[in-house]
Amino acid sequence: MSTQTFAEKIALAQDFLPINGTDYIEFYVGNAKQSAHYYKTAFGYQEVAYAGPETGVRDRASYVLQQGKIRLILTSGLSSESPIAQHALKHGDGVKVLALWVDDAYDAYEQTIQRGAKSYQEPQTLTDEFGEVKTAGIYTYGETVHMFIERKNYNGPFMPGYEASTSTYQPTDCGLLYVDHCVGNVGWNRMNDCVKWYEEVMGFVNILSFDDKQINTEYSALMSKVMSNGNGFSKFPINEPAEGQKKSQVEEYLDFYEGEGVQHIAVATKDIVKTVTELKSRGVEFLSAPPEAYYDMIPERVGSIDEDIKKLQDLGILVDCDEEGYLLQIFTKPVEDRPTLFYEIIERHGAQSFGAGNFKALFEALEREQDRRGNL
Ligand code: FE2
Repeated sequence: MSTQTFAEKIALAQDFLPINGTDYIEFYVGNAKQSAHYYKTAFGYQEVAYAGPETGVRDRASYVLQQGKIRLILTSGLSSESPIAQHALKHGDGVKVLALWVDDAYDAYEQTIQRGAKSYQEPQTLTDEFGEVKTAGIYTYGETVHMFIERKNYNGPFMPGYEASTSTYQPTDCGLLYVDHCVGNVGWNRMNDCVKWYEEVMGFVNILSFDDKQINTEYSALMSKVMSNGNGFSKFPINEPAEGQKKSQVEEYLDFYEGEGVQHIAVATKDIVKTVTELKSRGVEFLSAPPEAYYDMIPERVGSIDEDIKKLQDLGILVDCDEEGYLLQIFTKPVEDRPTLFYEIIERHGAQSFGAGNFKALFEALEREQDRRGNL
């Protein structure tokens, strides 16, 4: 491994595009009302805003949910001609927008377009009685979009076009705090193009790379590169399938999503044992735990950790470390019928990496699921 720390690598990014964090993640889904109910019930999000026919929006319904700093929008089109409905028909429920919170949306758009980005939405200023929000958008991989959101002159519930909305049904939260990273799956031979795109268009830097020799099991393989912006608030790992004896999990995703898209969203917690216990009690399904030998090896592989290893083992939580500390992580099963998007729950204790030491255990668990679906 390189001797540079993550902070040193990140500092190499050309930060012409300061990003304050993830503003929101928008999903295009078949039935936003039911999806919103799932995210409230299973993950503990609260409804904060709504847009739809009742608020004068004729073509869609959008539910804005929040937990900690994480904001999700679940959106459905209201007719078969709707591009939102067509997106959901092709891809199934999935992520359409990874929105980035910026200080200057017009400048972010102009700079990225000049550097070769493909436009999704020209800059516009939206106003209501709470002030103004400026937005603009560019395409990234597949049909996925980065929106730039500038909200320094806004103090409403979400943004113009949405009305504040609360539900009488308010399950307690599950301790989810913020988006740690969002991973994209891209097609064969496409990873390096995407890495170049994030470098050239967004000014990001490649902070970690894994080839198929590092990420493989007996059956399948993938390659991965992690892209970060200059302050480390936005991290987008990019995966590409690799040849193995059987079908790569990334290829299974590409087949079922019918294209490139977001594979998983990692959300941070300060108490993963409590969060995962709560999520499991609400019906969230996780990948199966690795064998006992994995947990027996933790003191040797990772060193001492604050948590009770037995508790981690009971919940199937994985542990890994790098030069800067350790991390705890666990992965859900896909949250749709198509084997596409899933979630990672992560608790960092200094470690800035992504759990490379867990790849083998993780991918073996993934392959057991893939095999059950008849896609291995
Ligand atoms: Fe991850």
